[in-house]
Amino acid sequence: MPQKNKRTAEDSSSRKGLSVRKGIKSRDRVRNRGEVFTELREINNILDLTADAHRNYKDQRILEPACGNGNFLVVILERRLADIKKAIKKKNQDDTEFAILTALSTMYGVDIMPDNIKECHERLESIIEKFYKERVPTKNRRPEFFDAVKEILRTNIQLGDMLNGKEKIYFVEYTVPRDYYFVRNEYRLIDLELGINSSKKRIRPTHYLKIGGRNANEH
Ligand SMILES: C[S@@+](CC[C@H](N)C(=O)[O-])C[C@H]1O[C@@H](n2cnc3c(N)ncnc32)[C@H](O)[C@@H]1O
Repeated sequence: MPQKNKRTAEDSSSRKGLSVRKGIKSRDRVRNRGEVFTELREINNILDLTADAHRNYKDQRILEPACGNGNFLVVILERRLADIKKAIKKKNQDDTEFAILTALSTMYGVDIMPDNIKECHERLESIIEKFYKERVPTKNRRPEFFDAVKEILRTNIQLGDMLNGKEKIYFVEYTVPRDYYFVRNEYRLIDLELGINSSKKRIRPTHYLKIGGRNANEH
């Protein structure tokens, strides 16, 4: 019988040229890493159970500890962008850009497989690219915004071993001291778990268009 809502993570991956078919990449990877990708219908059902907490892009930080190629993060970002579309007028480029970066900066993912992390970066970036094109005329496009997107993806969606490598995983917390600025504090996962709340690195308030640059002041 034909079913509504039959799109799967497989479909959404293959649409973007990714390498997932029938929820797996290879039998070896299923055996060695337990790698089975979740279907889009299940993801939507699970997210619907969280009473939309994941959509609160300013205050709700989300970590997917075995994010694969980003199936959950992709849907969360799409939902957050749908809210931004409703909340912010199209002509307001600064607010749109800052909201997108805020939404991305409160999302985290870790996976042990490099190709998964690469695909996750590409998928999240392409969703932002598409949204941006719909909202910002080409002549107003700011490359610095996309540098900032790449920087947040680098810090937040990372390669790591969540079982045996927690001392090597660092999370960057982005906070907003005032409009259009981010402060960054970096914490080691193992310290957070042990209740040691000391930041390893702090980056002063930096305008959002400068966070992808190399000159952000560290202290
Ligand atoms: C069941 S899949 C789920 C992927 C994704 N969350 C989804 O729902 O489509 C499990 C993922 O965990 C990753 N993984 C396995 N062991 C891991 C570890 N020790 N640390 C981090 N990721 C790991 C695998 O590479 C795989 O992508």
